[in-house]
Amino acid sequence: MFTRIDHIGVAVEDLDAAIKLYERNFEMELVHRETVESEGVEAVLLDVGDGHVELLAPLGPDTPVGKFIAKKGVGIHHVAYAVEDIDATLAQLKETGTRLIDEEARTGIRQSRVAFLHPAATGSVLTEIVEPAESH
Ligand code: CO
Repeated sequence: MFTRIDHIGVAVEDLDAAIKLYERNFEMELVHRETVESEGVEAVLLDVGDGHVELLAPLGPDTPVGKFIAKKGVGIHHVAYAVEDIDATLAQLKETGTRLIDEEARTGIRQSRVAFLHPAATGSVLTEIVEPAESH
């Protein structure tokens, strides 16, 4: 069902400080930066092999990531698996009764199509599935 790990999402408070850590200390390349208003985050992607680390800084305390940080602190937020056909994967998950946050795919970072599964269905690991845009 999943083809590979696409990215690990990490909640941070200071985006520029976190970018420096990954760039300088871990020699990872910043490849994308985007404010996703609908998600309430400023997000960046850093390359590691054919996967990424996605750093997420909340635009405010009332956003999902802002609430996450208030409750659990900064750190790992979600894991994202790549899929070839997100509509087919969602249909398959619905068929097996997997609880979803997103019934339909929506536009995610870098024009990907994404959907989140409910942590209640994933052993409390917030799980995203992502169909990357063609060029990625
Ligand atoms: Co993500």
